[in-house]
Amino acid sequence: MDTSKLILKPGLEGIPVTQSSICDIDGQKGHLLYRGYQIEELAQKSSFLETAFLLIWGELPTTSELRNFEAEVQMHRRLSFRVRDMMKCFPASGHPMDALQSSAASLGLFYSRRAIDDPKYVYNAVIRLIAKIPTMIAAFQLIRKGHDPIQPRDDLSYSSNFLYMLTEKEQDPLAAKVFDKCLILHAEHSLNASTFSARVTASTLTDPYAVVASAVGTLAGPLHGGANEDVIAMLDEIKLPENAKSFIKDSILTKRKIMGFGHREYKVKDPRAMILQQLAEELFDRFGKDEMYEVAKQLEEEAIPLLGAKGIFPNVDYYSGLVYRKLGIPRDLFTPIFAISRVAGWLAHWREQLGANRIFRPSQIYTGSKPRSWVPLDER
Ligand code: CMC
Repeated sequence: MDTSKLILKPGLEGIPVTQSSICDIDGQKGHLLYRGYQIEELAQKSSFLETAFLLIWGELPTTSELRNFEAEVQMHRRLSFRVRDMMKCFPASGHPMDALQSSAASLGLFYSRRAIDDPKYVYNAVIRLIAKIPTMIAAFQLIRKGHDPIQPRDDLSYSSNFLYMLTEKEQDPLAAKVFDKCLILHAEHSLNASTFSARVTASTLTDPYAVVASAVGTLAGPLHGGANEDVIAMLDEIKLPENAKSFIKDSILTKRKIMGFGHREYKVKDPRAMILQQLAEELFDRFGKDEMYEVAKQLEEEAIPLLGAKGIFPNVDYYSGLVYRKLGIPRDLFTPIFAISRVAGWLAHWREQLGANRIFRPSQIYTGSKPRSWVPLDER
């Protein structure tokens, strides 16, 4: 193929690869809408399961649709003993994202009928993935501590139950409320790397468990979902608010990126970072301060005059780790929690991709050697 006229766009920046009606972002104004609803309004008034329904099926559910959806998710939260036993064989030192990716992929073994054109199969896959991912994360957490996973509790809401399964005790309702809002905020964000990965995998017409497993693998990287862990490591390193100024200056000199800052879409502060900051403050007011928050605020104040002109501001990952820390969640579970939420967006894109599918097969500009002859081993 003659590729001389192709223009390379590394990272596909600014190249539309699909049409989508799921999520709209105005990166200049800092607006984010799911199916036309402002993120601020959803975070204030909706629940994660209602938002997931909206994203996946396109409209807010009626009362009975929501009750059925919640009931179905509740019914499918348990894991097969085979999945639990498989997870017990995972190394306790492994990253929970790897455990999640493997466990999510394993669901394809149990529900192997690839009937993606059957609405019942699609509905059941949606329910299973939303229901079981939190249970998998909680199970791995307990298994690596040497405990047996505990069963979900039917009297608890989606978020309360996850915190209960993770920590082995029922949490304050404020903790569950804040956690549920975090899930709403992370549920969808148009064609980010993991969603693109989900759509590419979906375009091959494979099963939804493979779609979600490939997205989980993509989310794990530090330039994407993994940044929330690195933010806490960075704030740990800075230690005190008075060190923030020199840290920023050194980072700019050495071209080190400030984790939790910058976004391909947003050129202003991410609207989700603003809501997460308020949620963090709500938790600190109730459960006590976190000194690390003072470091984060100081770092933001020092960074904006230096990076703001380039459109680099806090993103969703900047304050989310501080919220999760206050909820007592270990650092390496921050990205798996992102996955609990983002599975809603991935599934919405999976359905949309199947609605007008064409397999993804981009081009490349070849830069390798000209045709040449094979050289025998003893002549190389
Ligand atoms: N700190 C300092 N400088 C930065 C940062 C940052 N966090 N982000 C971008 N820049 C600079 C970068 O050095 C470059 O400068 P120059 O033009 O002088 O070389 C310019 O801004 C463009 O950066 P880029 O990396 O080419 O921009 P991108 O659109 O490809 O990357 C990004 C976006 C999110 C990967 C990047 O901002 C980054 O690496 N941020 C830190 C990691 C992070 O917080 N990731 C979470 C992203 S939001 C949630 C998610 O997607 O999961």
